[in-house]
Amino acid sequence: MDASKSRNPKTNREISPPKGRLGVLLPGIGAVASTLIAGVSLVKKGLGEPIGSLTQMQKIRLGKRTNPRAVPIKDFVPLANLNDLVFGGWDITPENAYETACNSGVLTENVLSDVRQELESVKPWPGVFEHAYVRKLNGTHVKTGDTKMALAEALIKDIEQFLKTNDLERAVMVWCGSTEVYSEPGPVHETVKAFEQGLRDNAEEIPPSMIYAYAAIKCGVPYANGAPNLSVDCPALIELADHLHVPVTGKDFKTGQTLMKTIIAPGLKARMLGLDGWFSTNLIGNKDGEVLDDEGSFKSKEVSKSNVLEGILQPEHYPELYGDIYHKVRIQYYPPRGDAKEGWDNIDISGWLGQPMQIKVNFLCRDSILAAPIVLDLILFMDLAKRAGMSGIQEWLSFYFKSPMALPTLKPENDLFIQHLKLTNTLRLLMGEELLNHSGLDYYENELV
Ligand SMILES: NC(=O)c1ccc[n+]([C@@H]2O[C@H](COP(=O)([O-])OP(=O)(O)OC[C@H]3O[C@@H](n4cnc5c(N)ncnc54)[C@H](O)[C@@H]3O)[C@@H](O)[C@H]2O)c1
Repeated sequence: MDASKSRNPKTNREISPPKGRLGVLLPGIGAVASTLIAGVSLVKKGLGEPIGSLTQMQKIRLGKRTNPRAVPIKDFVPLANLNDLVFGGWDITPENAYETACNSGVLTENVLSDVRQELESVKPWPGVFEHAYVRKLNGTHVKTGDTKMALAEALIKDIEQFLKTNDLERAVMVWCGSTEVYSEPGPVHETVKAFEQGLRDNAEEIPPSMIYAYAAIKCGVPYANGAPNLSVDCPALIELADHLHVPVTGKDFKTGQTLMKTIIAPGLKARMLGLDGWFSTNLIGNKDGEVLDDEGSFKSKEVSKSNVLEGILQPEHYPELYGDIYHKVRIQYYPPRGDAKEGWDNIDISGWLGQPMQIKVNFLCRDSILAAPIVLDLILFMDLAKRAGMSGIQEWLSFYFKSPMALPTLKPENDLFIQHLKLTNTLRLLMGEELLNHSGLDYYENELV
């Protein structure tokens, strides 16, 4: 398949080619964002491998098993090249991405020295911040404005200036800012009209992450939310995204413990093994951990992490196996651990005749190392979605999230393997290739072979 062609004759779908460079706008230049920028710069110099990134490493199977082809995703769909990414962003403290990368300690200064210049060139613009939404942080590098609408306009100005200075026609925004306190959509989030009035009236129900999402959508920039707070996941912003033909997605990058949960739980369910309880706890010592030490921000994370089991196990269909699960998630802030998180899971399961068994998982993971390739894939796939004319909620990117966005009439899909098939089949669909269903009967019942 020639990825440079703009119209696919098999689908009659037009995908504009990734011409020119792509702007990457990051609200929150912290551990994840600086690890992403460092990683992309190192990979470009041939000094690192983009491990964990589907867009850079995965091959997609095309065609029948009798004549299979394994094509790198980046050659199959027309994605932007790493050399064409230009980074910019906001933070509420003024450190450049190099200083932040050194402070967060994810990569050693020795590794960072090879890309110091690239990181130093990313100097955050003052952020839009409200202490009530992230109570553990104090912003020293923030915008001021009489109304939230004025702040949104200031963000729009930053975006326009960034595009102009770098001679860019396209950009994608990924929220890598701190987790805001838990909230639920209310009347001000119901329609675009109510939301814009709320911006003008300084409605306290509108957090900073929603102001960034609004600014991105107004500029036609796809928006992905890496944190568990609502941000773009409210009717008003989804309506605006649909109306302006902008792709949006979220919430909460699926990195360590929840990744494991969505790998193990589908296996238990497939084998019809029962589950009595799942106790998950984390020790984490980075700035994210400190923010989550506040009960309001933790509640956002707790809700995001807690919903995955129910979605996968479907207790409504299997009350005898999954009708009474004790599921508990804790996050303990423990500074000595830094970004190297330790996740503990105790899983109480049951088998034949209800006999009990246990599984213990001790995942010593590196949070930002797992998150950076997710951000990279989201940047490239969201840009692809925009060029392919897709808009509104991008459910096919659920693979990357703990709490995937979906239409209110649909239950979000949390099973990692179904999410993966959803993603790869969407790529096949976009390029006019046969979808994979894995039934395999056709090899035996038809005379195909
Ligand atoms: N690392 C992971 O594995 C992982 C997984 C899932 C979700 N997340 C989420 O991703 C986000 C980033 O994680 P991190 O480890 O980089 O955290 P971090 O604390 O290192 O970085 C967040 C940055 O956002 C900045 N910030 C806060 N509010 C802001 C605002 N209104 N505008 C601009 N900047 C703002 C902070 O100053 C900080 O520099 C967090 O919300 C986290 O919960 C991370």
